[in-house]
Amino acid sequence: MPGRYKVRSLALAESGRHQIRLAEHEMPGLMALRAEYGEARPLAGARIAGSLHMTVQTAVLIETLTALGAEVRWASCNIFSTQDEAAAAVVVGPDGTPEDPRGVPVFAWKGETLEEYWDCTQQILVWPEGEGPNLILDDGGDATLLVHLGLQYERIGAVPPNTLPGEPDHTHEMNVVRDLLRRDLEIDPLRWTGVAEQIGGVTEETTTGVHRLYHLADSGELLFPAINVNDSVTKSKFDNKYGIRHSLPDGINRATDILIGGKVAFVAGYGDVGKGAAEAFRGQGARVIVSEVDPICALQAAMDGFQVARLEDVVGEADFFVTTTGNKDVIRVEHMLAMKDKAVVGNIGHFDNEIDMTGLAAVPDVVKTEIKPQVHEWTLPAAEGRAERSVIVLSEGRLLNLGNATGHPSFVMSNSFANQVIGQLELFADMARPADERQYARQVYRLPKALDEKVARLHLDALGVRLTDLSKEQADYIGVPVEGPYKPEHYRY
Ligand code: NAI
Repeated sequence: MPGRYKVRSLALAESGRHQIRLAEHEMPGLMALRAEYGEARPLAGARIAGSLHMTVQTAVLIETLTALGAEVRWASCNIFSTQDEAAAAVVVGPDGTPEDPRGVPVFAWKGETLEEYWDCTQQILVWPEGEGPNLILDDGGDATLLVHLGLQYERIGAVPPNTLPGEPDHTHEMNVVRDLLRRDLEIDPLRWTGVAEQIGGVTEETTTGVHRLYHLADSGELLFPAINVNDSVTKSKFDNKYGIRHSLPDGINRATDILIGGKVAFVAGYGDVGKGAAEAFRGQGARVIVSEVDPICALQAAMDGFQVARLEDVVGEADFFVTTTGNKDVIRVEHMLAMKDKAVVGNIGHFDNEIDMTGLAAVPDVVKTEIKPQVHEWTLPAAEGRAERSVIVLSEGRLLNLGNATGHPSFVMSNSFANQVIGQLELFADMARPADERQYARQVYRLPKALDEKVARLHLDALGVRLTDLSKEQADYIGVPVEGPYKPEHYRY
């Protein structure tokens, strides 16, 4: 097996392999791509650096990429999201044993420190022997960010103390990244130049990572072509919504086991994730209050039957608070000080800056008690006009569906990951073309609608869905080809 790896324990591999086997059954999109391309191996020669929650579902993605011929190294894109048994099974591989691992080098375990997290991200980009990666598969953009920052720092010849455009505004975490890159500059002043030169493109999984990519492309700094997987309809309108509808209550239940029915739940943001979150709470019998900054999404929430209000106006009413905005400073200390005793507070957006955890830790005489891993009670002392109370914070403000549970279920991730595989195939095929015939420049692209429809089609049989046949006359009448695509680009679903 090429290179090193770092996971919790290879002894967990057998349990992971059983879970992967069951997940494969629930991931018809990925298995169909294996059947379609397994013989031709169109990813032979692709060297993929993957940074995406190291779950059982991701294991099926990784083994689909290798079945198509790719060489892969993997890290998780969050310190709490790894399923250790899945990571172990991927390292061991379907044909290996813990004593003789034959799978893919993985650098991920549940409960990494930030220092370990960024070291793992570096491990997938700087390969110990042979050539480094020529493609990135990213979720949230941290692997892409590290390459861009490494290169910027090398060009300046130093790691500057100030913030560069695109950096997360998270002082402690940024200092961890700076320290890592400072050490790199000392070891090899051209390390990241070498890494960046080889990379032919990135496929990005999530809303927040896609924001970063458009920002880099707009400022002319994007180093390679990018495919925005998130905005495939079969990704964001499914994973972000129906995936959350399943995994949000899963996370809350595993963390707290507090009955949701009859309670009041506050959901910040009514985009795709917020829609799934609000529906999940309602499905459990909660009264749901939504907040929004966008008048269209606020109106949608109202028409869907939810109260729409500002957090400060309802903060004393809710029992559960969940942020889904991809924005920062949404739940601040003044809000947490005004919540009910034992209110549950969590975030399901990509980064942990939606809830002001630094501010919470800085409240005078605050006491943090670990109830169990990823569940903490923060006791806020009595102060003028306020009795003592505590709030329960999940996953230290990081995405709770992956920190407190195991993320989205396989079937919905099969849709997302089929888009990822198709994105990697597109970029790798383009890299083989002569430079003047390439379709992808240093911009952000979405996959064509025909491929989006293909991903959906791959999942219909498993659900017993029968499509209606469109006749030629009907197709002509509505102006679409019989075989699709069935909607114009501007259609919103
Ligand atoms: P979106 O852009 O569709 O929705 C976010 C919504 O939040 C928007 O409607 C926006 O107007 C609203 N918003 C922004 N600032 C706000 C504020 N201060 N108060 C109230 N509302 C505000 O994005 P999407 O796809 O729903 O993703 C949200 C976040 O969830 C992103 O960070 C994304 O990367 C992440 N995500 C997490 C997943 C998970 O498994 N935990 C799965 C998919 C996405």
